[in-house]
Amino acid sequence: MIIESKITQIIHGEFSNDAKLQQICDLLKQNISHFHWVGFYFVHGDKKELKLAQFAGKPTEHTIIPFGKGICGQVALTNENFVVQDVSEQDNYISCGIEVKSEIVVPIFQNGVNIGQIDIDSHDVAPFSKKDESLLEFICKEVASLNLDPILNQDPS
Ligand code: SME
Repeated sequence: MIIESKITQIIHGEFSNDAKLQQICDLLKQNISHFHWVGFYFVHGDKKELKLAQFAGKPTEHTIIPFGKGICGQVALTNENFVVQDVSEQDNYISCGIEVKSEIVVPIFQNGVNIGQIDIDSHDVAPFSKKDESLLEFICKEVASLNLDPILNQDPS
């Protein structure tokens, strides 16, 4: 519950949305030992692709992900949580490094529209629990309460 209340504090704080999203990434990475990379992807303008926003962990070259590609791109289309306890069992997966063994992606909805997602990579096999999934759903609801229009409507050039 402590993480949840810190998230709520961040969301209602005085900082910019960019800073809030960064604080959430840092908080999760620092406090949950099996979260090795934490990032937010948002729908990129009117393009059928996701664009990486804030993240904590190793920089990735996968800053743009077409809908349908990889775990993230699939969640953009299915609108459902995707828990991958072992990435080696997935064909449609974009690797961000040999050290990544599992991944969880939870979509963010505003007015029923899937506008982005939180993506977690772990170096452990099968680390994710229902508790993690619920926490990430909670975070996505909190993030959805922000005015994300500047992120969503950015010039997709
Ligand atoms: N593994 C993801 C790509 C993004 S990284 O995990 C940062 C995927 O398959 O969509």
